[in-house]
Amino acid sequence: MSSYLAKPQRFLVRPAPGWVDLTLQDVSAVLDAPTQKYKFKPAAVIEDGIVVVSDCDYRQALELVARLTTAHDVEWVIHSGRVSSRGDWKGFFEASGVGELFKGGVAADTKVSAMVSHPVVGTAKDIREIAVATWGFGAGENENEEAAESKSHRVRIDSGKNRTRILVSLAGEPLYKRGYKARVGGATAPLPEHHASACFLWSAKQIGGDLKNKIACGEVTVAAPFAGTGTTGFEAVCRVLNITPALTRDHYACEDFSFHPEATMSSIRKRLLAARGAGKPKIVFGDNTPEIFDALSSQVTSFKESIGVDIDVRMTLNDFLASPDTLAATGFELFLPLNPPYGLRLAKQTGSVSIYERLGLALARLSKSNNISGYVICPDEDSWRALLTKLKSFTCHTCHFSHGGRDTRLVAFTSPSSRTPATYVKM
Ligand SMILES: C[S@@+](CC[C@H](N)C(=O)[O-])C[C@H]1O[C@@H](n2cnc3c(N)ncnc32)[C@H](O)[C@@H]1O
Repeated sequence: MSSYLAKPQRFLVRPAPGWVDLTLQDVSAVLDAPTQKYKFKPAAVIEDGIVVVSDCDYRQALELVARLTTAHDVEWVIHSGRVSSRGDWKGFFEASGVGELFKGGVAADTKVSAMVSHPVVGTAKDIREIAVATWGFGAGENENEEAAESKSHRVRIDSGKNRTRILVSLAGEPLYKRGYKARVGGATAPLPEHHASACFLWSAKQIGGDLKNKIACGEVTVAAPFAGTGTTGFEAVCRVLNITPALTRDHYACEDFSFHPEATMSSIRKRLLAARGAGKPKIVFGDNTPEIFDALSSQVTSFKESIGVDIDVRMTLNDFLASPDTLAATGFELFLPLNPPYGLRLAKQTGSVSIYERLGLALARLSKSNNISGYVICPDEDSWRALLTKLKSFTCHTCHFSHGGRDTRLVAFTSPSSRTPATYVKM
């Protein structure tokens, strides 16, 4: 088993849908600045919408799970080869090492799935059955994707004409589960954390002006008026303070592997803790729904405890579209990460255009008293256009990503920065 640590390995990094270029940057940043020395020199490229990392020290891949913020999963190619007839499968699975991979007992919580693009060597169902019989675990039948995601461990057989790979999830539960959320009721259509991280990183780059440092030291306040469960604000704070996911999440599937190099993982965690940024960001959360607002207090408490950094959080029960000025007194410079509720499911119903017009007007009004920047998630072309017609004097950049299976637009905006703090009265 420990031979995995002696030879370079290959990993597939699955991005948040639509963000593969950003995830490649995320991967490159982690590989180029390791927390410690590793044996091999890895390379990362995009293939079929996935970031493929080759020639990688297995130990260095632990840094990928610990540090990536825009990825959904990191899968390890534990075994790969060619299967040319049905009779080859059993031997292929025996040679894969999967049967001996898990520490005693945890294999029971493992989902085994198969994808086959060359059914001559068997259907996905047949192949999966042979794998389950060979390894002696993974028998839970045909679970849907959601059930599969909740499993602690996932093994996938990916079979094509010329190559079959066995992929083992290093994360287990998806990487967007950061570990800082309380298990209380939440908002409709929450944005998963890896998307919120990507939206923040992309927008911060478009907005420029040292935004991250200004947020870290509290010079720019993060104002999230459609807070829901707080994800967009939390992820912004984590990025500016360099709070890597492993600092808030205490377990990954790979920690249950029988050869898991525990000392490496704990050294990575220690070094990430030492690299955590200093500063005291300010966040203002708003929401207009009393029950969501109440649950948000628990989220804030849980987040603060989890990150172990003192941050300044205020909350306001407020209708942002009717009273954007409520935010005006919370900081002269505001960064607004906006995932409006009509962003996805509700967008199919009527009214999203007028809501985006009102949102544009609310931002334009707020920009009369404050310097504002931020991002808005738009569900379709019409709502995007409606927003932009009200932000004519703003600098705006748009990109596309995929959320809930829909093509979604992200607008990063900056208000005209002619205002000075002279007229601004602090709360
Ligand atoms: C899509 S959810 C935000 C999800 C959030 N990003 C998360 O991850 O949980 C939108 C939130 O905005 C709130 N909301 C809807 N209309 C609002 C308004 N006019 N002013 C303030 N909040 C509003 C809803 O109660 C809901 O919690």
